[in-house]
Amino acid sequence: MDTDGYRLGDEFITRSVEETVALGERWGSELSAGWVVAMDADLGAGKTQLARGIARGLEFSGRVQSPTFALINVYEGGRCPVYHLDLYRLDDAQAVFDAGLEESLREPDGVTVVEWAERWLKGAGDFKKLRQVQIATLSETERCISYEDLGA
Ligand SMILES: Nc1ncnc2c1ncn2[C@@H]1O[C@H](COP(=O)(O)OP(=O)(O)OP(=O)(O)O)[C@@H](O)[C@H]1O
Ligand SMILES: [Mg+2]
Repeated sequence: MDTDGYRLGDEFITRSVEETVALGERWGSELSAGWVVAMDADLGAGKTQLARGIARGLEFSGRVQSPTFALINVYEGGRCPVYHLDLYRLDDAQAVFDAGLEESLREPDGVTVVEWAERWLKGAGDFKKLRQVQIATLSETERCISYEDLGA
């Protein structure tokens, strides 16, 4: 049986990909349209795995893949659309704007999940419902996942 890791204060420790996906799934089941989940973490920390779980929790049953080159993947057919962005290749908020992504980062009709969000959050203004997530790599298989909800 999958667990979703264990809670340590405001932080969650996951000990496998499956636990990270399960944690994302729980979050997804609780989120509603208008939420922006902004993830910051090192390369390969597990942002895409967490995004996969969130999409599942929002009842999307298709494939979730890293939008590293596409910049954005849209998953439809679940409880609401999921906008999955990866800003790794963009330098700052201006580059995000120039790529035409600003609007998709504020979709009121869906849940937006953003990898490398700090490239855009600096200078992005206010949000109604923003979950700021950090993932730290503790070991090959362990991750510390913490979040703070702002403006909710
Ligand atoms: N507890 C864990 N949670 C999530 N991923 C884990 C865990 N333990 C090991 N991993 C491994 O870490 C990697 C996470 O990959 P993932 O693509 O989700 O990271 P990412 O943060 O999206 O990377 P990128 O910076 O390239 O976007 C996978 O190879 C996965 O197998
Ligand atoms: Mg990724």
